[in-house]
Amino acid sequence: MNFLAPELDRYSEDNSAPEPAYLTELAAETRASIDMPMMLSGHVQGRFLSLMSKLLAPKLILDIGTFTGYSALCMAEGLATGGVLHTIDIKTPLAPLVDRYIRKAAFHDRIKQHLAPATEVIPRIEGTFDLVFIDADKQNYSTYFDLVIERVRSGGLIIADNVLWSGKVLDPMADQDGETRGLTGYAEKVKSDPRVESVLLALRDGLLVSRRK
Ligand SMILES: C[S@@+](CC[C@H](N)C(=O)[O-])C[C@H]1O[C@@H](n2cnc3c(N)ncnc32)[C@H](O)[C@@H]1O
Repeated sequence: MNFLAPELDRYSEDNSAPEPAYLTELAAETRASIDMPMMLSGHVQGRFLSLMSKLLAPKLILDIGTFTGYSALCMAEGLATGGVLHTIDIKTPLAPLVDRYIRKAAFHDRIKQHLAPATEVIPRIEGTFDLVFIDADKQNYSTYFDLVIERVRSGGLIIADNVLWSGKVLDPMADQDGETRGLTGYAEKVKSDPRVESVLLALRDGLLVSRRK
């Protein structure tokens, strides 16, 4: 799926930092052999996640929705010395592929994979989050926000993906679709929560970036 015209996609990629070679390889393998490859964050969004992570120098990152590990590997680039990234998914068959790329990127001692519903895993992870990326089942975005918000440090970020949902968030019939309702509900919730200040970036399928005050 193209969120921008292909030429603009290419122009954005050409004028962004290159992705590490192992991520190009991971993206190619995802596109060639995995269902729904458009779920992968991709080059420009990946560089944005990497940049945010490098600015925060996080000790603890939470990645909700591993898929083939692209977003996890991008954010791991910014980890502080001794920092750890936890990534959660329910799709267990993808775990060996993710593990292969975590090793290739030499992050095997810094990325912990969890294979269970995120609502079960999040309460079991100890510590204060510096950076949270929400990119799993859309109906649960608000639940994930509620589970993490009091555990995000002041100045830390919660970034939610797909908040434009290919434009379906503007559909007047959106109330009939649980995923779209989950995303519009999330945007409303974040806007009215005084604990965060947010900006919705029309990058790829939309990123809602919220900073804990
Ligand atoms: C859009 S993909 C994640 C893409 C990845 N963050 C990236 O940028 O490459 C969403 C993933 O969330 C996972 N997922 C869906 N429901 C989940 C749940 N309840 N708990 C954990 N993961 C879930 C799916 O299996 C899928 O792999």
